[in-house]
Amino acid sequence: MSGQNTAVPTPRPAAQDGPAATPPHTGARPHAGAEHAVGTTGVAHREVGSGEAAAANLAWWDADADAYHASHGDFLGDEDFVWCPEGLREADACLLGDLAGSRVLEVGAGSAPCARWLARQGAHVTALDLSAGMLRHARAANDRTGVHVPLVQANAELLPFASGAFDTACSAFGAVPFVASIEAVFAEVTRILRPGGRWVFAVTHPMRWIFPDDPGPMGLTATQPYFDRTPYVEVDDSGAATYVEYHHTLGDYVRALTGAGLALDDLIEPEWPPGHDRVWGQWSPLRGRLFPGTAIFRCTKGAR
Ligand SMILES: C[S@@+](CC[C@H](N)C(=O)[O-])C[C@H]1O[C@@H](n2cnc3c(N)ncnc32)[C@H](O)[C@@H]1O
Repeated sequence: MSGQNTAVPTPRPAAQDGPAATPPHTGARPHAGAEHAVGTTGVAHREVGSGEAAAANLAWWDADADAYHASHGDFLGDEDFVWCPEGLREADACLLGDLAGSRVLEVGAGSAPCARWLARQGAHVTALDLSAGMLRHARAANDRTGVHVPLVQANAELLPFASGAFDTACSAFGAVPFVASIEAVFAEVTRILRPGGRWVFAVTHPMRWIFPDDPGPMGLTATQPYFDRTPYVEVDDSGAATYVEYHHTLGDYVRALTGAGLALDDLIEPEWPPGHDRVWGQWSPLRGRLFPGTAIFRCTKGAR
């Protein structure tokens, strides 16, 4: 199925709120502005290397930054750590352990509300993101709140920090779904953590890949093989990628983490809370009642 372009992006799993998050049959296209800006005209299923993926996602998140925050800014807040559309908060989950005085890196921070919440808990936080557009929102929120977390623009596959510089690294749907090599990201995170440091990250639950990216009944019928790792790619007229998202099975994640020298301590699958009625892309009460939408991996760097 790779390289099969279609005229209109088809509904497919997307990380938290990627461009295919709204099913075409609803008529609403919340990412139309970004699609127009980057020149998206179709969907391809093909392999995409690191360079092409980084260029596409940099342009995509720059173009979508305003719409993303217009849609989700109220849910994310300026100083709040929400792990996922199910609404699990770090204040309740305590996945990162003791924060006071600890050195924390947030990877794929977006406008960095999580980083500012961590700073309020007494952590020394750095917020990293690929996109200058997303970091522009982070800078504005730093100014609004008076919590000035340092912002760094970089690719998570090549972290510009010294080895052992952090006690903890975290990510809420940042970077990991969008990189060609999770192995490279996990190796980099392992390198910048001190021995015994913690890496906690949230991604779309891998089982979502098999369903159309639709919050309604259409999103309840499996249409795509779980074992097909061919990336979801949106393309322009020339076939160049304008947005890329990768799929990994649960086993792929476990092997990549352990291969990087990380021990998997827990895998959290947040349940849809009673009364939570917010729809975020493919996340909805209908689907949330039936199967998980988010996987949060909590890992520790070994002593080796
Ligand atoms: C779904 S947003 C999540 C942002 C934020 N964590 C939140 O919860 O709102 C994904 C973020 O990952 C960033 N990103 C994508 N690819 C990246 C990469 N290779 N390195 C670093 N950040 C990346 C995007 O720019 C974007 O800000």
